[in-house]
Amino acid sequence: MSLVPMGYLLQAAEKDGYAVGAFNYSNMEILQAIVRAAQAENSPVILQASEGAIKYAGLAYIAALAKLAAQHTSIPMALHLDHGTDLELIEQCVQAGFTSIMFDGSHLPLQENAAVTRRLVDFSQRAGFSVEAELGRISGTEDKISVSEKEAFFTDPEEAGFFVRETGVDALAVAVGTAHGLYRGVPELDFPRLEKIKSVVKIPLVLHGSSGVPDDDIREAVRLGVCKVNIDTNIREVFTVTVRKFMEANPGEIDPRKIMGPARDAAAEMIREKIRLFGSSRKA
Ligand code: G3H
Ligand code: ZN
Repeated sequence: MSLVPMGYLLQAAEKDGYAVGAFNYSNMEILQAIVRAAQAENSPVILQASEGAIKYAGLAYIAALAKLAAQHTSIPMALHLDHGTDLELIEQCVQAGFTSIMFDGSHLPLQENAAVTRRLVDFSQRAGFSVEAELGRISGTEDKISVSEKEAFFTDPEEAGFFVRETGVDALAVAVGTAHGLYRGVPELDFPRLEKIKSVVKIPLVLHGSSGVPDDDIREAVRLGVCKVNIDTNIREVFTVTVRKFMEANPGEIDPRKIMGPARDAAAEMIREKIRLFGSSRKA
């Protein structure tokens, strides 16, 4: 099967009341963990790479890994650029076979964010990929994107309505209390705000910074219209902790396959649990 546009996965999720997991990767082992988990759960999945991941692994490798994975399975998968800010790179991603991009113009004034997003949506309709945008600012650090607590603000439902009407975007990332990276305490999600946004905006919503959000809160967010849940930190954490533990127990080991194999298995198991939580098992 080839990679599919992300909008196709999110529309099915919206109709059926579940969310599709969007998992970040920057190397082969993590990509394989995501794909194995999705296959084991018979679930659609979104493979996503940030600008930082592309810089690390190279665009050709990131795209080739996802295309290869899609060809060897019947699971519907999208390849998505996470937090895209560089318009030139966005175009290169589309040329390389990405089936979805996020334009992160959340730092821009509303009108400017809407204008750039609109141009990308026009381009996407000709080229056949999906577009996610963000309104409000999510605190924390995700690769190149770093937003202090002072700079962060929640999505305004009225602005979200205006933005979606102006742009025709496929999915909207909202700031409702989650943060990128490790949480210091337990996050407090603003569910009334999420509900209000969804009543104004009739498109799939996206939850960023979802690692560390309690399971019940994730279920509630999905019930209120979140159709894409982004997970990165949890993957980095389980992968690295497993490598660290292995090295502590086997300090003389030099074979990268023995070091990273168990980390790949542990990441796949964690991703399977997330897929079950999002409700997308058996929806492939
Ligand atoms: O864009 C990616 C994410 O929003 C991931 O957030 O690292 O907190 O899981 P996370
Ligand atoms: Zn994010």
